[in-house]
Amino acid sequence: MRHTFFRSALLFLFCLSAVSTLQAEDGSRLWLRYDSTVFNSMTLRIDSTMPLDDGYRIEGTTVCARTQQGLLYGKYAFLRGEKGESHPAFRLRILNHWDNLDGSIERGYAGNSIFWDDTPSLATVNAPLIRQYAEACASIGINGVVLNNVNASPDMLTRPYLNKVRAIADLLRPWGIRVYLSVNFGSPKALGQTRTADPLNPSVRLWWQKKTKEIYNLIPDFGGYLVKANSEGQPGPFDYGRTHADGANMLADALRPFDGIVMWRSFVYGAKHKGEDRVKQAVSEFAELDGQFADNVILQSKNGPLDFQPREPYAPIFDQMKQTPQMVELQITQEYLGQGDHLVFLAPMWKEFFSFVAPSRLVGVAGVANVGLDRNWCGHHFAQANWYAFGRLAWNPSLSSRQIAEEWVTQTFAPAAQPLPVSVLVNMMLRSREACVDYMMPLGLHHIFKFDHHMGPEPDGFKARYPIEWCPVYYHKADKQGIGFDRSSRGTGATLQYREPYRTLYDSAATCPERYLLWFHHLSWDYRTLSGRTLAEEIDYRYARGVKEVEDFVKTWQQLKPAIDEQRWQEVDDKLNRQLRDAREWQDVCTRYFRSFQK
Ligand code: GCU
Repeated sequence: MRHTFFRSALLFLFCLSAVSTLQAEDGSRLWLRYDSTVFNSMTLRIDSTMPLDDGYRIEGTTVCARTQQGLLYGKYAFLRGEKGESHPAFRLRILNHWDNLDGSIERGYAGNSIFWDDTPSLATVNAPLIRQYAEACASIGINGVVLNNVNASPDMLTRPYLNKVRAIADLLRPWGIRVYLSVNFGSPKALGQTRTADPLNPSVRLWWQKKTKEIYNLIPDFGGYLVKANSEGQPGPFDYGRTHADGANMLADALRPFDGIVMWRSFVYGAKHKGEDRVKQAVSEFAELDGQFADNVILQSKNGPLDFQPREPYAPIFDQMKQTPQMVELQITQEYLGQGDHLVFLAPMWKEFFSFVAPSRLVGVAGVANVGLDRNWCGHHFAQANWYAFGRLAWNPSLSSRQIAEEWVTQTFAPAAQPLPVSVLVNMMLRSREACVDYMMPLGLHHIFKFDHHMGPEPDGFKARYPIEWCPVYYHKADKQGIGFDRSSRGTGATLQYREPYRTLYDSAATCPERYLLWFHHLSWDYRTLSGRTLAEEIDYRYARGVKEVEDFVKTWQQLKPAIDEQRWQEVDDKLNRQLRDAREWQDVCTRYFRSFQK
């Protein structure tokens, strides 16, 4: 019923649109294909009796909100065909751009940065593009943007770059988007302005206080800092024998007078707990600090304990930190899910996370952005759906993946030359993540990617000069007897970091869900899976199933040709064919490699 209303409302809106369906389509308009005169058909009203946040209420053609920001969100909700009242589940809904100051993007698959281009010059700020970006973000409720990579350059905090940050902040502000920066913990020392970066050293503390004040003088509504410290070679408080709390609290003190926040990342391994099972290290490092962080520090953790794999169990740090405010970091850019080439709709993966970690336990959601200078913003037309889904779930994590996909498809592909078979497209999207898990790493296998760039399989990967936790063989542990990583209480004990009932469920292969089987257990090749097949057979079966799904997507897309504009149809078709080749490569390489142990 609701969906019928939704579709007819959209149809009405699109009829108002003067846009011809025959016009060449490059995807640059994202899901924002309404005619701006539609806004004139709404009445906007401030209602001070509404709860104090940026929510909205839609009654007929009237949009009510307590704040201007709420009215802005309500306008886009009206375009989507929403009605009734809606409030954001999370205060912080932030995109994290891993953009470098030279314009490149770490794990970016859609061209260079929309913000940076190797010069602090203000002349190169692309105002129209940034405004368009801001509208897209605001339309789905995103209210913060971290402008630079977590592997942050100290130069970010120099005055010429801060002037550029101010120019960008001025463009984003009308859309209710605050700017945040990733900071390099060693900045004062690296810039030659102090002799140390020790967080307890008075000259270092003073430097951060002055720098923070300088930023707020330029950008009064600046949001705060995101920090990756003592992780993957980044400097941090350990370098001076201090704790994460010492480091985070020093920055928190500098930000407090301005109501700024510190988002301190828990993505750490190979530092203080080097040698321990990598998925345990965040809890080992942070649990003992619970209660020691200043109240404007938020711990930001990836959804899984390893690193944005196609499937991971949730990260147990969300169970362990009882007194520290927490945010989840989701990865929109598909580093480990086919990057810019595979159609993988991520909403089901993120919903899976929220089914384990109640949204009410989090103060915010961060998403590693997939946006670049490509005409269609995200490299793959369907990757736009992940940007869209991130914003929608950050506003309301109880939306279903289907509803989000329907909204996106309807707004992105309609009006079509022929009636758009929305459900056919949506069903393909909804199956895509599970397909990816099957053709890359079924049954809880993980991190068997090619080194460094993480595209394609390399299950035999081992390089003596690399840390062992970068090597695929460390993760699958295949041998003559069997396969999988024993993280049970008889193995590394990672299961013990989970709350009940998961601790007990995951600890025994008999009760561990099969989707996590080889994440938590090392089992013999002839172990019987639920299907009755042996583990060896089941692995083969799932790789084949994943490939079959992609074959099906290719066929489905062929059938959709009459309903999709030419350019986008062709570009997606090319990518789907690439995805099929890649899926077959995964199947071929992995099944051959794993069979080699079974003789
Ligand atoms: C992954 C990714 C890195 C990134 C890191 C992080 O390891 O491959 O490029 O810097 O995560 O989240 O800090």
